[in-house]
Amino acid sequence: MTSPPPAGNPPFRIAVVCLGNICRSPMADVVLRERIDDAGLAEKVAVESFGTGGWHRGNPMDTRAAATLTRAGYDATNHRARQITASQLSDFDLVLAMDGDNLSDLLRMSSGSTTDIRLFRDFDLTNAGADVPDPYYGGADGFEEVLAMVERTATGLVARLSDGTLGRPG
Ligand code: 4NP
Repeated sequence: MTSPPPAGNPPFRIAVVCLGNICRSPMADVVLRERIDDAGLAEKVAVESFGTGGWHRGNPMDTRAAATLTRAGYDATNHRARQITASQLSDFDLVLAMDGDNLSDLLRMSSGSTTDIRLFRDFDLTNAGADVPDPYYGGADGFEEVLAMVERTATGLVARLSDGTLGRPG
């Protein structure tokens, strides 16, 4: 009987988290996955997205978010909204909050967890530490603005994953 191949290193797991998981974090999820794939890191880094709230659980992406991604050439068809739970936080190596409110909520949930929880835009080289503003109650411009921030931040984040200053050692 042949044995299964030895398991490789588990991936470095990243969660991106906003409020509803239908606009910002799904957009970040789609862009990050594509950039990670393009960088040849798909086996080493895994990305998922969640909301701190559960109102939209099971729903696809907001149509405006999906249209913005589709216009820019991304595939926005696979998303279903999920709410993160306190116990799930420790499944991740890095949890990235879209804004300061999301960060406070996650830190409150995380007592006792050693997971690295911080703002997504800590990795935005041009404006580190700023919020990704909630586009839900605004117009189409807000979604374009979110995509620009997400793409710029993805560039900074994937550079760190590629040069080995972020991720699983070895
Ligand atoms: P998201 O946007 O947090 O970027 O997914 C929102 C989606 C829904 C609501 C708020 C923000 N909501 O209040 O239902």
